[in-house]
Amino acid sequence: MTPSRRQILSAGAIGLPLAATPALVRSQPFTPVAPPRPPLAGLPSRSRTDLSGPWRYVLDPFDVAGRKPGVRRNVWEDRSTTDDGPLVEYEWASSPAIRVPGDWNTADPELFHYDGPAYFQRDLDGPPPDGRRRFLVFEAVNYRSRVWLNGEAIADHEGGFTPFEVEVTDRLRPGRNSLVVRADSRHAPETLPAEDFDWKNYGGITRPVWLVDLPATLIRDVFARLEGDDIVVDVALDGPDAAGAAVTVAITALGATATGRTDVRGIAQVRLAPGALTLWTPEQPALHDLDVTSDQDRLSERMGFRSLQTRGREILLNGRPRFLKGIALHEEPIGPNGGRVMDEAAARALLAEAKALGCDFVRLAHYPHAETTLRVADELGLLVWAEVPIYWEDVAYGSARTLDLARTMTAEMVLRDRNRCSIAFWSVANETPQTPERLRFLREVIGTVRALDPTRLVTAALNKNVDVGGVSDGEARLVVRDELGADLDVIAMNQYEGWYGSRRPGDIAQVSFGSVYDKPLIMSEFGADALAGHRGDRTERWTEDHQAWIFDETLKAISRSGSFAGVSPWLLKDFCSPRRWHGRFQNGWNRKGLIAPDGTRKQAFEVLRRFYRGARPA
Ligand code: GCU
Repeated sequence: MTPSRRQILSAGAIGLPLAATPALVRSQPFTPVAPPRPPLAGLPSRSRTDLSGPWRYVLDPFDVAGRKPGVRRNVWEDRSTTDDGPLVEYEWASSPAIRVPGDWNTADPELFHYDGPAYFQRDLDGPPPDGRRRFLVFEAVNYRSRVWLNGEAIADHEGGFTPFEVEVTDRLRPGRNSLVVRADSRHAPETLPAEDFDWKNYGGITRPVWLVDLPATLIRDVFARLEGDDIVVDVALDGPDAAGAAVTVAITALGATATGRTDVRGIAQVRLAPGALTLWTPEQPALHDLDVTSDQDRLSERMGFRSLQTRGREILLNGRPRFLKGIALHEEPIGPNGGRVMDEAAARALLAEAKALGCDFVRLAHYPHAETTLRVADELGLLVWAEVPIYWEDVAYGSARTLDLARTMTAEMVLRDRNRCSIAFWSVANETPQTPERLRFLREVIGTVRALDPTRLVTAALNKNVDVGGVSDGEARLVVRDELGADLDVIAMNQYEGWYGSRRPGDIAQVSFGSVYDKPLIMSEFGADALAGHRGDRTERWTEDHQAWIFDETLKAISRSGSFAGVSPWLLKDFCSPRRWHGRFQNGWNRKGLIAPDGTRKQAFEVLRRFYRGARPA
């Protein structure tokens, strides 16, 4: 049964009550103590200590400490190595350091191919007892993590792209504390993604870590959205005085304010009548500071407000049909070495290229991207397709453990980002098999999305499209008939005509695309590899000219098909992938980018930009 939003709000902490540290084996069952509690809202406006910087680390390629714990190697105990104590074979002070946030793969060339467990340690100053509460917030650790504070295991998390937190109020002691984090990058048949995926599996504490300082009764969650002309705000307090408390919501710049009182669970719903509110659009990404105040706490969320619906095959933003001019992208900064760390500057540089293309839409593939990227998308005016890594046929669609994990990971994504106006679509899958098990699995995940956020459109990228034949001989019409479409608000298809399959680019003129559903249709992927700088005749594979030809022919086919509400070609930038082996053209990179790793634009960049300049609803 999918947890209701209210159940989620009142659910327990993410930090699991842990028994004695069990062996951290790969097939450990996923046992969510409770559906994830909303992450602490409004973090950028909170009092918090940034724990970025050098952390000591130890690699454990045989997972010895995980499988055979023992005093000599229990690095989380952080014992001193004096002669009179028990023998320990580690010493944090003399271990190498790596920058957090960071992935070990690009931090040290010797670790580029490392895939396994590693332990990270840093000291942490604890405050004197002051009646306030402290939380550790991890924005992401890839892939499975466990956290110890002063030798006590305090949190477990699975999933490489969503945040988790643990309250440490009663565990931090004044002065020095030792914080140890295990990051195990390995995937297995029941993980998400499973064991085969087309991107580099960057391991480590890949996003920021914070120590957040809050009052005894804090504002836990805020969910604000437009309903008609009003802004409806759900507020959840957390603490001993959460019930029956007054909360005030205000958008000062609009002169709008309203007060409510929480119920017995500490939840209140407040309705603002903002009057002349400028609705958010990509062309005018109007943002407002929404201030929430309770008697002990206050926070601010920078938010835009807009409406999103479908009407037949149209997508309506603020009631007006729109053709979405998109591009897909992985989370990898522009730069020669790739990597996973996406800070604000890197996000701005990457999304600036999407804006330069003339995009109003980005598909953030194939997993939840960093929160900073969503905040930049809000600001720059880019609608977002967000996605959980339920990817390809290897996923264990029949596994109850994997389904629990999928629902928890989806809830963590939705609960983190549902105040980001840029998000238009929650995608529950990419290129998944048409089996009964997968259909049941994805219907459960869709149920979780709709329970937490009924305001956005649910979609999935489908690639088992069927050629129903064109009007005359030799023509092809590739159509989405996937039965999952009945459960989606927006249909999306991946189709690489001219690159994968038998057709060459010159055959695309005989191809059109469609869907059996009277719902909006997005071309969520098409493209081709090209090595930047490799020029030649357009018929020559791997050249920029060939990629540009495929873009030109496919965009003409999309226009000719007359059935699309948007397109997000694959993809903005070349990205690292261990599946790409061609010694002259790939060398561990998927070259379907419109820009090279260093940001050099390829010929196809201009083809897409020209198309978007002339774009109109298909
Ligand atoms: C697939 C998949 C992408 C992959 C791409 C490719 O459609 O969705 O993740 O990178 O094709 O083959 O380049």
